[in-house]
Amino acid sequence: MNEILNVAITGCGVIGRTHAAALQEFPQTRIVALVDAIPDAAQSLADYIEQTGRPRPAVFTTISAALAGADIDLVALATPSGLHIEQGLEVLAAGKHVVIEKPLDVDLKRAQEIEAAAQAAARNGVVASVISQHRFDQSSLAVSEALAAGRLGRLTSAIASVAWWRSQDYYDSGDWRGTWSMDGGGALMNQGVHTVDLLLWFMGRPVEINARTARLAHDRIEVEDTAVATVTFENGGLAVLHATTAAYPGLTVRVQVMGSEGSAVVDNDRLEYFHASDASSERSNMGLQGGGNQAGQELAKYPAEDYEAKDPTTYPAGHVRQYRDILEAIAQRRAPGVTVSDAVNALAAVRAVYVSATLNQPVMFEDVLAGKYNDLEVRTGNTATESV
Ligand SMILES: NC(=O)c1ccc[n+]([C@@H]2O[C@H](COP(=O)([O-])OP(=O)(O)OC[C@H]3O[C@@H](n4cnc5c(N)ncnc54)[C@H](O)[C@@H]3O)[C@@H](O)[C@H]2O)c1
Repeated sequence: MNEILNVAITGCGVIGRTHAAALQEFPQTRIVALVDAIPDAAQSLADYIEQTGRPRPAVFTTISAALAGADIDLVALATPSGLHIEQGLEVLAAGKHVVIEKPLDVDLKRAQEIEAAAQAAARNGVVASVISQHRFDQSSLAVSEALAAGRLGRLTSAIASVAWWRSQDYYDSGDWRGTWSMDGGGALMNQGVHTVDLLLWFMGRPVEINARTARLAHDRIEVEDTAVATVTFENGGLAVLHATTAAYPGLTVRVQVMGSEGSAVVDNDRLEYFHASDASSERSNMGLQGGGNQAGQELAKYPAEDYEAKDPTTYPAGHVRQYRDILEAIAQRRAPGVTVSDAVNALAAVRAVYVSATLNQPVMFEDVLAGKYNDLEVRTGNTATESV
């Protein structure tokens, strides 16, 4: 492999630019190719890269043309979600590392195919990772490490909520947005999948999911703008999941995990509250009622992050942190922090919500994963007053 890692970005829209900006932070990478079905989109990203003082990448309209026309080690897929597995399989078949934007895809049927391809590729030192950048936030790491050390005791419950607003103009801005074939779902699949991934990372494997969905504040989309669900987990813990793009003007993304020896709240990527009984002399039969916040002392255990000195509106901190992990995984021939299998589970959990809402009954996570409902046409955009 080259000492410099040659990268191709496929999909030069909103998040393609984020990948380009994040990669600028790594001198050991060079963006050599840009792929977009719309040549102007790729040219415009090439202009941006050139303006930052880096060499202008070559531009292609397909991955196969890029693989044939440039020396590429890693392909970042930032295309509409419904293309991810097909394009990911093409990249892995060519023996290249792949970074796939979230969600893994819209199609759970093909998820096992890319899971197997990623596992086979790993045996040859090829890395496949799916973006879930919030796993690399300091706050998420603090919670995950506390959970791994058992510091919150028995995990009893969790609440995960994405209370956002997306205007009709947002949905109208791309033909693929809000469609089953390319977006794969609505508020939960597109905006909520990060939070679903965090919930599973914190709580473990789901057992049963019971959900309702609705389209309440948008037109001209096939999918839900609001979803709620209850989830039971293998560890016995219970969770409430909520995702909406119909909450004007948009509130925060919030994940609370609560256990018999401690609780943690991450709000908009910030550790808002943390308490573990092992770090406290206070204990009361009626609890501390939100007091005893140890978030500051918990975060002080971690080194200050470089991004704190940057402009948060332009610096893609999350993608930079995840790329740091991916580049290390490539160099060390180890598994990345987020594997394709992790992303298959998040996709299956979203799909389970959609199956449950369509059938109006609880569904077992393992049944969804095993393909029991693969042929079910899910419908989540019905308003609450329409029958499903
Ligand atoms: N990680 C995050 O926080 C985050 C944020 C936004 C979007 N995303 C994900 O990134 C993906 C893209 O979203 P976006 O908002 O950038 O969309 P976008 O519409 O802005 O960009 C998609 C680009 O892909 C191009 N494209 C379409 N078909 C193609 C093909 N066959 N080959 C090559 N290029 C093709 C389009 O022309 C467009 O330029 C989605 O999967 C989305 O879920 C992730």
